[in-house]
Amino acid sequence: MPNPPSFPVEIRTSFKPGIPWPDNNGVHINAHGGGVIFHAGFYYWYGESKYPGRDEKERADAGTHCYRSTDLMNWTDMGIVMPMDENDPQSETAVGSICERPKVLFNPSTKKFVMIFKLYPESTGYLIGYVGVATADVPEGPFTYQHRFNGGGLGHGTGDFLFVIDAQGAAWHMGVRKPDKVFVAARMRPDFLMPETDYVPVEGIERHTEAPALIPADGGYYLIGSGSTGWDPNVARAFFSKHLTGPYRQLPCPCEGVNPHNNLGPEKTFGGQSSFVIPVEGKPGAFIAMFDLWTPRIASNGGYVWLPVEIKDGAPKIRWRTEWDLSVFDRSSAA
Ligand code: DGJ
Repeated sequence: MPNPPSFPVEIRTSFKPGIPWPDNNGVHINAHGGGVIFHAGFYYWYGESKYPGRDEKERADAGTHCYRSTDLMNWTDMGIVMPMDENDPQSETAVGSICERPKVLFNPSTKKFVMIFKLYPESTGYLIGYVGVATADVPEGPFTYQHRFNGGGLGHGTGDFLFVIDAQGAAWHMGVRKPDKVFVAARMRPDFLMPETDYVPVEGIERHTEAPALIPADGGYYLIGSGSTGWDPNVARAFFSKHLTGPYRQLPCPCEGVNPHNNLGPEKTFGGQSSFVIPVEGKPGAFIAMFDLWTPRIASNGGYVWLPVEIKDGAPKIRWRTEWDLSVFDRSSAA
């Protein structure tokens, strides 16, 4: 059952982090832990769709929701493009499984859109983290579930992850390994559907780093993430490496300022947790950091904080803004 419309339908001309974000139907966007791709003139935002009103503990995950936009501010609901299986309780994607943090890449060889997501069977909760894989011929889906794999190398799988393409065009799955919380990386097969190498630890990324998001800049990679405190916010982490798989060097917390809607600042990442960094199309060096404001008691109400990333003196800065638009990137820096 979709969320009922609650907000006026209006054209947005700015980002207003931390307050409800209505879609084209006046319904708060339901795409948590998400990521964004750009394809053929459109941005696509994929995220966790939560059954309206449910607690995270009550089989809240409905699958992956997709929204489409040309300007990153106004989003059209494209529906749930990879639903959980509501009919077969034996299915690997049965309702009750945890389905989190979907990320999509386009594979230029197979011409498939490949989505991977955290997929935890209901029977074992957060103990064993599989990676679910689904594919589609077009970005608006539908995505067809293919299989799952147990990444990480220790048999307990992985948690939050990056699904990214390196400078040579190879895709990588990099995430926090269970149960030791070491950040590990494996190169994916050329079809992006399975890892083809063993997982190796990524040097320099602090243990327990969750919610990773990548910023390719300054001839290398900035990686931002969070600590590991469940749904509760903590202080954001930042790292830099010349090479995707490390070694990384730790940088200061990237956040600055206070979210006036909850009075939380850098010590709690404005009340949020990172999910992705969007490269703005046509604006080289312009990046938007996406954070989730989790509300686990009513998961569908979870909010979003999107802020411009400024890279200054070899470190990312993400400064709170109550309202902003893409013109910040036309100035000499996002300051
Ligand atoms: C933190 C992770 O980043 C989220 O995706 C989610 O798995 C929560 N933990 C669950 O506590």
